Amino acid sequence: MRSVLLLIAVAVCSQCSVAAVVRSGSSDGFGERRDTETAISLLENELMASSPSELTMVPLTLIQGADAKGAVCLDGTLPGYHLDRGFGSGANSWLIQLEGGGWCNNRRTCVYRKTSRRGSSNFMEKALAFTGILSNKSQENPDFYNWNRIKLRYCDGASFAGDSQDESSQIFYRGQRIWHAAMEEFLSLGMQQADQALLSGCSAGGLASILHCDEFRELLPSSTKVKCLSDAGMFLDAVDVSGGRSLRNMFQGVVTVQNLQKDLSSSCTNHLDPTSCFFPQNLISDIKTPMFLLNTAYDSWQIQESLAPRTADPGGIWKACKSDHSQCNSSQIQFFQEFGNQMVNALDSFSTSDQNGIFINSCFAHCQSERQDTWFAQDSPQIDGKRVAESVGDWYFDRAQDVKVIDCPYPCDTTCHNLIFE
Ligand SMILES: *[C@@H]1O[C@H](CO)[C@@H](O)[C@H](O)[C@H]1NC(C)=O
Ligand SMILES: *[C@@H]1O[C@H](CO)[C@@H](O)[C@H](O)[C@H]1NC(C)=O
Repeated sequence: MRSVLLLIAVAVCSQCSVAAVVRSGSSDGFGERRDTETAISLLENELMASSPSELTMVPLTLIQGADAKGAVCLDGTLPGYHLDRGFGSGANSWLIQLEGGGWCNNRRTCVYRKTSRRGSSNFMEKALAFTGILSNKSQENPDFYNWNRIKLRYCDGASFAGDSQDESSQIFYRGQRIWHAAMEEFLSLGMQQADQALLSGCSAGGLASILHCDEFRELLPSSTKVKCLSDAGMFLDAVDVSGGRSLRNMFQGVVTVQNLQKDLSSSCTNHLDPTSCFFPQNLISDIKTPMFLLNTAYDSWQIQESLAPRTADPGGIWKACKSDHSQCNSSQIQFFQEFGNQMVNALDSFSTSDQNGIFINSCFAHCQSERQDTWFAQDSPQIDGKRVAESVGDWYFDRAQDVKVIDCPYPCDTTCHNLIFE
């Protein structure tokens, strides 16, 4: 029996008000709730599908021969990507965007994922709209519009980090091999000659860009300018509303089910437990390649799934507040302020490096680089008058010294496009 989840999400900002009704046919059979991230990406698809402006639809390409290298999705199907070729002065520049979409943290949720686009190319969209940092229009994406732009699909369940398999349940945990097979393919398509490259990703993909940043650097000639961007990838090891650590529990499940211990950075695992080494706060200061961290201080996904998930709030007293910040009382806002402070503190040592960039705005949102309205639009979010695309561009092209901006605390920022779930 298919259950239908009805989700109404509204993006609000000072001058705009976009509402969308997202329907998701849930056929999981486990009575599982869709995660916020899925909801947000469904919302995004819905908004894009109904957008009147002309959209760039880019077809899915499967990586032929990847299966011979054991580089397969959870269900054993071929991994895939979408490539829109660069042109003009960008013909030799490459942007790789790692797709996000949560994680599976036990055998049951990984088996379920095999029957979704997050675990099988059989279920992936055959074409995707390229917007925001992936757009091919200079007025939507001033610095990267004419680069070769790639979206690498996410179907391994662990931020492209695993390399194992579950024989008895026939689940392949091959994120690391997918990463390698994809990079080989992109190098052969011309990335080998890149003069500039940027590895990016949002959410679970933002974490993946942190995990793989230095490896990406090493794949390319030393003459290539290489940097990495993580959007909404700063998942904090935070205490939830009931005093527990919901996200740590979830990450521990991811690390255990895929046996990630051996795949994580040894400079971290030699002094911390493997679950801690899946948290960016314990990795970012060791990254040698220039890195930009873009995140909201009150990340919507983390509020919903890490700070106030249903398991930490069985009575549902946070339900209204976590779906719409205007429903929060002062002590709830204070809880989020402390989370925001923890985010900023986690960047302490990272921010001492001149080559790194930071944009932390005091908004309730998740993933701002792929959406047109948050990346680069007339009224998109700003800090000190600069929009996200301008800050990332200034940092990548060294047009400004030290691009590190941290917003004043809520509610001072009137440029946010906050997400509201009803
Ligand atoms: C962007 O892509 C669309 C769809 O493929 C195409 O029609 C358009 O000409 C492209 N724009 C530029 C500036 O290349
Ligand atoms: C805020 O709301 C929470 C949850 O309903 C409640 O426990 C708390 O006492 C409230 N605090 C204030 C200051 O009203």
